[in-house]
Amino acid sequence: MNKTLIITGGAGFIGSHVVRLFVTKYPDYRIVNLDALTYAGNLENLADIQDAPNYVFEHADITNAARMQELFAQYRPDGVIHLAAESHVDRSIESPLDFVITNVIGTVNLLNAARQQWKGAFEGKRFYHVSTDEVYGALGAEGLFTEQTPYDPHSPYSASKASSDHFVRAYHDTYGLPVVITNCSNNYGPNHFPEKLIPLCIHNIINNKPLPVYGDGKYTRDWLFVKDHARAIDLVFHEGKNGDTYNIGGFNEWQNIDLVQLLCKQMDEKLGRPEGTSAQLITFVKDRPGHDLRYAIDAGKINRELGWLPSVTFEQGLSLTIDWYLANEEWLRHVTSGAYQQYYAAQYQVQS
Ligand SMILES: NC(=O)c1ccc[n+]([C@@H]2O[C@H](COP(=O)([O-])OP(=O)(O)OC[C@H]3O[C@@H](n4cnc5c(N)ncnc54)[C@H](O)[C@@H]3O)[C@@H](O)[C@H]2O)c1
Repeated sequence: MNKTLIITGGAGFIGSHVVRLFVTKYPDYRIVNLDALTYAGNLENLADIQDAPNYVFEHADITNAARMQELFAQYRPDGVIHLAAESHVDRSIESPLDFVITNVIGTVNLLNAARQQWKGAFEGKRFYHVSTDEVYGALGAEGLFTEQTPYDPHSPYSASKASSDHFVRAYHDTYGLPVVITNCSNNYGPNHFPEKLIPLCIHNIINNKPLPVYGDGKYTRDWLFVKDHARAIDLVFHEGKNGDTYNIGGFNEWQNIDLVQLLCKQMDEKLGRPEGTSAQLITFVKDRPGHDLRYAIDAGKINRELGWLPSVTFEQGLSLTIDWYLANEEWLRHVTSGAYQQYYAAQYQVQS
């Protein structure tokens, strides 16, 4: 094998797309998927590539510093792509400390393991930290987040991601660790756990259940198809400048209510229901505390410097996403019933 990469959080939503892309595109790279398989980790996401000769799964927790040191010594990675995190804002409001432990301490454990393994011989090495646009706080009706926007996180989730970003930069500035960071907007696409807006609405429309929309539905987000995020990660991993940050976004802002309406329209067409049927399920619910009004990202730098652009429009990406959920109802049923958590034990013949 030419290179070994450790990808953390590879059983999660975005991580599984990144792992698949790297395993299939780079058969001469050994890809180690390091994941603790929390409620958000699902190895069924990777069933199609689990037997690839260049793929290895390691069931491990990034909060365990000693285990990280051991695994880095065992695999001697050339690169790390770090996606493992607690990622759901609502859960961070319930249990902020879990987010500090995984997102901050877990990241520092990985930085320490990389530093110890590489021992200052940084040629050809790279630590890639995957972060979010939520670290920049909220925007009013105008403006975009650039790489120079000061950090101003508002939720325990975004505060923990902001903190981990600072540690990654500090390890670059203090120890010379070769790092790169990307801050991306909201992702959507296949394999998304149905606690997030788009898969939740798809699941509820299929089952004729209410579609919860926070507040007055005017919250605005930028949306990116997950496979375009994975393509951007591939590009930045190979061509990004050491120590730099790149924003990644879809050039695609939507108010939540308009997005849900579009989703209802596409679902009615695909399910053969009269137009307007699914929209009747829309239910406005009490707002989440500290809810940021608008996020919008300027992805101009990655476009200018590395030539990246999204490959699909939102309408196309949404249609592909709905088709995937309709074709994979069993995946959805396993995830919503919790049955996916037995997959690891059955597949790998061990206790999960
Ligand atoms: N989803 C988005 O829209 C979005 C946008 C921008 C950035 N991000 C960032 O991308 C990354 C991946 O997000 P996602 O939506 O795929 O998340 P996810 O919740 O779907 O997956 C997270 C994965 O990390 C694993 N994990 C959690 N705690 C762990 C631990 N202690 N040790 C090892 N593995 C652990 C989980 O098992 C899961 O497989 C996160 O860092 C997130 O902050 C997400």
